[in-house]
Amino acid sequence: MTSRFAAATLGSIVADDFRAASVLERFGLDFCCGGKRTLDEACALRQVDPADVEAALGQLSGPVSADAPDASWAADELTRVIVRRHHAYIRAQVPVITGHLARLTAVHGERHPELHTIRQHFAQIADELQMHLMKEEEILFPYIRALAAAAEQGTPPPPNMFGTVMNPIRMMEAEHQSAGNELEIVRALTHNFTVPADGCATYRVCFEELSAFDRDLRLHIHLENNILFPKALELESALVGAPVARRGR
Ligand SMILES: [Fe+2]
Ligand SMILES: [Fe+2]
Repeated sequence: MTSRFAAATLGSIVADDFRAASVLERFGLDFCCGGKRTLDEACALRQVDPADVEAALGQLSGPVSADAPDASWAADELTRVIVRRHHAYIRAQVPVITGHLARLTAVHGERHPELHTIRQHFAQIADELQMHLMKEEEILFPYIRALAAAAEQGTPPPPNMFGTVMNPIRMMEAEHQSAGNELEIVRALTHNFTVPADGCATYRVCFEELSAFDRDLRLHIHLENNILFPKALELESALVGAPVARRGR
């Protein structure tokens, strides 16, 4: 029997139905930075049986949220939603989590020295993301909106300083990978955000915040890598009359 999902990429599975995200997460399959892998490739890496994942995907139930982003969304609308939901969330949460981690490290750092390392990695993520969001908001996203407008009006692609949109996209994907790697370290150091037996209320709040931050960032990266960027490449390629260069979606 031919499998429905085996050759599909993780990114496209979630882009088609966002409810699949929780199934892939349950099996430890990375659909954001690792979204270009096929289900079979990702399962082989994690030593998971693809049949188990496919069975779970085949049983997806429950309503699809009306505002769950998917591949049907237009590129310009996606850029606005990403900034409004995810960039704003990062800017709001970074100072809160930074403050809680500082307090936690001061109080529990002696008994839990890994808190110092967690704090350093979070500071690194926060630092990298600050520049990253600015590059998207000031360079890449306005260009994608200009591409969408040109496609709508039937005009040539707008001028830019970077040649093809593939160049800033590659840079953003590399930065996503870096933030994803840092968060992976935080996940490992916190044992998947598990509060130790002697953890206080601040510990619990802080780990919940870190866990939510991790989840939001993975969704955010998925929307960009697996939905927005392929759409931008398609828009550009339609405007210049060239075939879309690459991408296994
Ligand atoms: Fe972003
Ligand atoms: Fe990004």
